[in-house]
Amino acid sequence: MKELLKSLPKRDRDLTNDPLWYRNAVFYEVMVRAFHDSDGDGIGDLRGLIKRLDYLAWLGVDALWLPPFYPSPMRDGGYDVADYRGIDPRYGTMRDFEKLIKEVHKRGMRITIDLVMNHTSDQHPWFQASRTDPDGPYGDYYVWSDTDQKWTDARIIFTDVETSNWAWDAHREQYYWHRFYSHQPDLNFENPAVQQEMFDIARFWLKKGIDGFRLDAVPYLFEDEDNSGENDPRTHQFLRDLRKMVDTEFPGAVLLAEANQPPHEAAEYFGTEEEPECHMCFHFPVMPRIFHSLKAEDATRLREVLHDTPVPPAKGQWSTFLRNHDELTLEMVSEDERHQMFDWYAPHPQMKAHTGIRRRLAPLLDNSEQALELAHALILSLPGTPCLYYGDEIAMGDNVWLPDRDSVRTPMQWTPDRNAGFSDADPGALYLPTVQSLLFHYNGVNIERSLMQPTSLLFWMRRFLKARAEHPAFSDGGYKDVPSDNPAVFSFLRTHEDESVLVAMNFSTHQSSALLTLEDYAGGKVKTIISKTPFQDVGDDGTLRLTFGPQSFYWLVVKHA
Ligand code: NOJ
Repeated sequence: MKELLKSLPKRDRDLTNDPLWYRNAVFYEVMVRAFHDSDGDGIGDLRGLIKRLDYLAWLGVDALWLPPFYPSPMRDGGYDVADYRGIDPRYGTMRDFEKLIKEVHKRGMRITIDLVMNHTSDQHPWFQASRTDPDGPYGDYYVWSDTDQKWTDARIIFTDVETSNWAWDAHREQYYWHRFYSHQPDLNFENPAVQQEMFDIARFWLKKGIDGFRLDAVPYLFEDEDNSGENDPRTHQFLRDLRKMVDTEFPGAVLLAEANQPPHEAAEYFGTEEEPECHMCFHFPVMPRIFHSLKAEDATRLREVLHDTPVPPAKGQWSTFLRNHDELTLEMVSEDERHQMFDWYAPHPQMKAHTGIRRRLAPLLDNSEQALELAHALILSLPGTPCLYYGDEIAMGDNVWLPDRDSVRTPMQWTPDRNAGFSDADPGALYLPTVQSLLFHYNGVNIERSLMQPTSLLFWMRRFLKARAEHPAFSDGGYKDVPSDNPAVFSFLRTHEDESVLVAMNFSTHQSSALLTLEDYAGGKVKTIISKTPFQDVGDDGTLRLTFGPQSFYWLVVKHA
C-alpha cells in the first residue's frame, strides 16, 4: 500500500494564491476520527490525516472540510462543542493541527473547518456557569425562559428524539432553548458578548492559517415570534458583519453556509454584491431531487428546482453534494416526494433517522457502477462547487445497525488487512467497527484494491475531477436548461466566455434516445471532453439526437457554427 501510494503522480494544481479558489475547487469532507489512526488507539487522528494527504492530492481534491475536532462529550459527533479553541486530545495536539495546515498548503490545497456558532454542548463551561450563576458574566449567554410556550411555531429538527425546543434546567429552574439535541443549548445571539466571542473564535482559527469555515446550522442564530426561529434579519446582519471582518482581516478565507432551506431562502445567505454574507451555500434542495430523479427515471423535478435556483451574486457559489456525515435529509422535498423516497431508499426502518435516510451513497444506489458514475458526473457538472464525502470515491458501504448517523461514519477502508488498514488497534477498540457486510466488506472495497484496478470508480473519479478542473465552464459558467423530448434525459449547457459544455444524462435504467434543442448552436461542432474526439455535429435545424446506454451520460464541448 505504502509503495503504491508513493508511486502516485504528484498534484499539479496550486490554489493557494487564487483569491477565488473556492469557485473552481472540489471539496472533500473528511472526519478526522474516521480517516487514519497513526497511534493505534483505534481513533483516527490529525497525524493520520497528514499521512494520507498525498492520496487526497493525487485524487485531485482541492480543499478539505473537517467537521469538528474540538473537545467534546461526543453526543452529537463533535457538534456538541465543549471548548472552541482546543483540539480533542483523542485527535492530537494543536501542533499537529498547525502541521496539518502547513502540509495541506504545501500540496497546493486548502483547508476549511466547522464553526458551530448556534449552540454548545451542555458541558461547555459557559453553559455550566450560565445555569449555576444567572447573574454572573455568562448568565445571559443562552436563551432562558420561564415558560416553554414561547416560539411554539419553530419546527423541531430531530423529530424522532426531541418533543420540544425547550428543556428544563432544574438548577436554574428555567427552560433553555435548543434547536437540536437537548444537550445542545442554543447560544443567545442577542447578547453582544456572544457575538464578540464568535468573532474572536473565528479570528483564532483564521490566524492559524485555515482557509475558511463551514458555518453549522446558520439559520437558527436568532429567534423571534414572527419567523419561527429561522432566517431572522438579525442573523443576516450578523453574517454581513462576520464577512466584513473576514474579508478585511483574512482575504481569501471563505464562509460556507449550512442552511437547509428552499432555494430562495438559502440564497439569501449569499447576501448581495454590495453587502455579502457567505461566499458559498450548500444547495440542500437540489440534493434530494437528484436521488428522486434517479429512481423516478425522470428529470422533471430536478429541472424545476434548478429553474427556481437564484444565481448567486458575483463571487458567490453554490456547493453541490450527494452525501455527507448526516442523514440524507428530506426536509426540502414535498410530503409526497418524502414518502416516495422513504419507500425507495429506506425499505428497512433502521435506515431512517430524523427526517431522512442514514445510508451512504453506494448502498443507496444499489452499488451500481453506472448510477454512481452518473450521480457523481451530475454534481461535478451542475453549477456550484462539489463537495465529496470520504469513502464515496471507492463506493464504501454503511452499517445501519450502528446508532444515529454513525451508520455513515465508519473507518475509511485503505487495505484488505486488519481494520481495513485504518488502525493497528485491536478491532474491538475501534471508535466504530469497520464495514463487514456481505456486499461492502473492506476485503473487497478499499483504496489499495481500487488503485490496482485502472477501471475502478476511484480512477474514474480522478479522471473526471481532472476533466472538470480543465474546463472553467464547470466552475464559472452560467447554467442553461436544454430542452429534451425525453423526460428521462436531463440536459443543460454550462457556458463561460467562449466555451460551452453540454451535459446530457439518461436517468433511465434502459437505453434511451432524446432530441435536444440547441438553437444557438445550429450546425455547430461537438467534441467529447474526456477523449477530445469529434462527435456528431448539431443539425442545421439546431437539434442534436443522442442515444444513451442505461444511466449513461455525455460531457461535450459545443462550438458555434
Ligand atoms: C448540523 C450538523 O451537520 C449535524 O451533524 C449536527 O447534528 C447538527 N448541525 C447540530 O449541530
